[in-house]
Amino acid sequence: MLCAFFWYVAAFKDDSALLKHELAYVLGQMKNPHAHAVLKSVLATMDEDPMVRHEAAEALGAIGSLESIPILEEYLKDESDVVSQTCELAIEKIKYDNREDKEKLPERYDTRSWLISGSCNMASEHILYKS
Ligand SMILES: [Fe+2]
Repeated sequence: MLCAFFWYVAAFKDDSALLKHELAYVLGQMKNPHAHAVLKSVLATMDEDPMVRHEAAEALGAIGSLESIPILEEYLKDESDVVSQTCELAIEKIKYDNREDKEKLPERYDTRSWLISGSCNMASEHILYKS
């Protein structure tokens, strides 16, 4: 697992934004907290493609660790709307995942809503990215 993880991290040096987007997506789906460092680094790289930075934020949300909230908060006012909005959604999703009382939160915090409205749809992401 660590060997494969190394290759994922190394691939973030590639020139292809689409490849790096997919890498971030996979890291988020793996839900492995070892990915925090590289995902935070990608999010913090201001000259990285916004689509890649967005996916790094989304992956941090997918992993769902409370420790990611401070870094996500740093980019709530990012110059890229895609990045800032994803950070907002990721923070809400992490808070939802880590809540103590699941019954008291409103419906909009439902994880299903995250999956539907939260940019897991590649087609809509690419439309957003191109606009
Ligand atoms: Fe995404």
